[in-house]
Amino acid sequence: MTIEDEVPLSESQIAVHWREEGYFSPSPKFIGQANATDPAIVERFAEDRFPGCFAEYAELLTWDSYWHTILDTSNPPFWQWFVGGRLNACYNCVDRHLAADRNKAAFIWVPEPEDEATVVITYQELHRRVNEFAALLREDCGLEPGDRVTFHLPMVPELPVAMLACARLGVIHSEVFGGFSGAACGGRIADSGSRVLVTMDAYHRNGQLVDHKAKADEAVAEAARQGQEVDRVLVFRRYPGRYSSATPMVDGRDAFADDVLARYRGRVVEPVPMPADAPLFLMYTSGTTGRPKGCQHSTGGYLAYVAGTSKYYQDIHPEDTYWCCADIGWITGHSYIVYGPLSLGTTSVLYEGAPTYPDPGRCWRIAERLGVNIFHTAPTTIRMLRKLGPDEPARYDYHFKHMTTVGEPIEPEVWRWYHRVVGKGEAAVVDTWWQTETGGFLGSTLPALQPMKPGSCGPGALGIFPVIYDEEGNTVEAGTGRAGNICIRNPWPGVFQGIWGQPERFVDTYYRKYCRNPQSKDWHDWPYFAGDGAVQADDGYFRILGRVDDVINVAGHRLGTKELESACLTVDEVAEAAAVPVVDEERGRAVEMYVSLKPGRQASTEIENKVSVAIDREIGKIARPKHVWIVSDMPKTRSGKIMRRVIAGISNFADVGDVSTLANPEVVDDIRHRIQRAK
Ligand code: PRX
Repeated sequence: MTIEDEVPLSESQIAVHWREEGYFSPSPKFIGQANATDPAIVERFAEDRFPGCFAEYAELLTWDSYWHTILDTSNPPFWQWFVGGRLNACYNCVDRHLAADRNKAAFIWVPEPEDEATVVITYQELHRRVNEFAALLREDCGLEPGDRVTFHLPMVPELPVAMLACARLGVIHSEVFGGFSGAACGGRIADSGSRVLVTMDAYHRNGQLVDHKAKADEAVAEAARQGQEVDRVLVFRRYPGRYSSATPMVDGRDAFADDVLARYRGRVVEPVPMPADAPLFLMYTSGTTGRPKGCQHSTGGYLAYVAGTSKYYQDIHPEDTYWCCADIGWITGHSYIVYGPLSLGTTSVLYEGAPTYPDPGRCWRIAERLGVNIFHTAPTTIRMLRKLGPDEPARYDYHFKHMTTVGEPIEPEVWRWYHRVVGKGEAAVVDTWWQTETGGFLGSTLPALQPMKPGSCGPGALGIFPVIYDEEGNTVEAGTGRAGNICIRNPWPGVFQGIWGQPERFVDTYYRKYCRNPQSKDWHDWPYFAGDGAVQADDGYFRILGRVDDVINVAGHRLGTKELESACLTVDEVAEAAAVPVVDEERGRAVEMYVSLKPGRQASTEIENKVSVAIDREIGKIARPKHVWIVSDMPKTRSGKIMRRVIAGISNFADVGDVSTLANPEVVDDIRHRIQRAK
C-alpha cells in the first residue's frame, strides 16, 4: 500500500486565521531591569555583522581554548561553529558557579504529591551528584566520549543529573520522553546504538504512581529486535530503597542505580574539554517517514545559543527563580530547563506532575511558594488552565515579571488571558517559535525592546534572518498577507548538526528544497527549510500557521502521520490507515485516524479500540487519536495513493477542492455523510 499524497497534507491549510492585533508594551519596571535594553544590540546582530556577532553569545561561556574560526562553511550544509574551540558543557552549567554560588539552588524539584517535600539541589549538591553519576557511567558502564546512552526518565532530578554527567564525560545522551511507549523507546535505542538504558521504576502523574520499569523491558526487547543489544539497564527508584514496580529486575542486566551509586560516593571526575563541534546530545523527533530523526546537537554552538537566548529572550538573571513548565524529554526542556538556565547560573524549577493536578491552582501555588518570577509554558497548558480555572491566578500571591509561550500558535484571545490573568498585567509575554532541530528560538521579541503582538511570534531572533518563500523559491514580501514556507537564510550556532546516521535525509529534508547551488560553499545558497507555513506582516513580525509537511503538532508535540499509520497497520483487521489533523479547542490540533478494513471484516467499536491501543503501544498515550473512523474506502488518486488532504478537508468541514480526478470520487460523499452524522 502507498500512503502518500500528491500534495502533502498541510496543517497550515486548516490554520485558524485570526485578525492582526494591536501591540502591547512591557511595564517600565520590567524594562528597568531587563538584560537587553539598549537598541544597539539589534545593530550588533545585524546581517553585516554575521557570523561574528555570535561571538557575543559564545563569550557568555567559559572555554578551555578559544576557537580560531567562528563559522566553517566548507562542507554545506554541515556547518561548524567555533572551530578549534574546546569547552565542557557540564563545567559551564555547574562547576563555574561553585566559587560564588555553591549553596544557591540550581534546581528546585517539586514532586506531584503535594504532601511530599520539595527538594532543593544546590550547585554544590548538583556537582557532587553529577560527578558520582559520571564516575558510574565511566567505570560501571564503560562509557567513553562519543558513546551514546539512552535515558527514559520522567521529570525527576536524576534526569538533569544524568544529562550533565554525560556532558562531563563527552558521552552523547539521548533522552526519550517518559510518556513514550517502550516500543518507541526501543526504536530510538536501536537507532542511536546505545547499549545502556537509564530509567526509573515509577513516577507520579495525574494522581497515579505509574509503573515505568515495564517499559524498559519492552524497550530492550524492541531494540534487540532491531539488532541493538542493551547490556545494562540502570533503574533509579522513585523512592530509594523501595521498588515501586511490579516488573522483576533482570539478573545480570538490571541494577538499581541508587545502589550502584553508593560505590562512587564522593568521586570527582574531571570535566573533559570537548571540541566545540562534538555532539552533546540527540533528541528524536517525528518527520515525514516512519523512522524518527535523531537530531544531533553540538556542544559549543548549541550551548552558546541557548545561553544567549536565555539571557536576552527569557531575560534570565542569576538571581531569578525560573520555571519552565515543560518536560525535559522535549527540546524545550533540554534548552530552557537545563542547559540555558544553568549556563547562566540561575535557579530552575522542575515539576514532576501534571499542571492541572489536583486542581488548576497547582501551578500558581508552586509559583507563590517558590517565588517564581519567570514562567514558561505551552499554549496547550494555557488553554487548559484557562478552561479549568479562569479565575484561579488571582487567588495566589505570585508575581511574574516575564512569561514565555512555545510550541504552537497561540490564539490572541488565549494570549490576552495569559497576559491579563496569569501575568496580572505585569509580565512581559514572549512568544517563541522554534523547533527540535533549531536548538533555540528563531522568531521572538526582545521583551524590553520589541513590543508584543498577540498571535505573532515576532521578528527573527538576534542574528536570525527568516524569509518566506513560495513553492518556486520566490520571496513572499512582508505585508502582502500571502502565506508561504518560512525559511532561515543563514546558519546559526544552535542549528542541529545532522540527523544521526542519516546524512542524506538531513540534506534532503531541510536544505534541498531551496538550495540555489549544491556546489556552493556560500551559506547564502543554503536556506534552512523549517517545514512551517507563515505570513509576515509589514512590521516584520511573523505569524506561524502550522506544519506544511506530514507532521501534526498535537498539544505542542510533533507526531508523524506515517508513524501513526504504521501503528494502526499492526492491527490485524486494518487494511489501510490515514492520520489527519483536526482543529481542537484545547490541544490546538488533534489526530483523527481513518481506517479501512480487510475484506470480510466488519466495522466495530472493538476494532476502533484496537487501533487506539496499538497507537498507545507503538508510540504512547500522547498520540492517542481523538476519533477512529472506520470507512469503506479511502479517497485515492488513480495511481492508488491515499489523499490525506481530502480526508483532512472533510474532517474539518473545509473545502476539499476538486475531487473529480480521484479514482473513486464517490467515497468522498460517503465519508462526508458518515462524519456529518456522527459529529
Ligand atoms: O510548527 C511549529 C510549532 O512546533 C514545531 C516544532 O515542534 P518541536 O520540534 O516539537 O518543538 C517544539 C518546541 C520548540 C514547529 O515547526 N511551533 C513551535 N513554536 C511555535 C510553533 N508554532 C507557532 N508558534 C510558536 N511559538
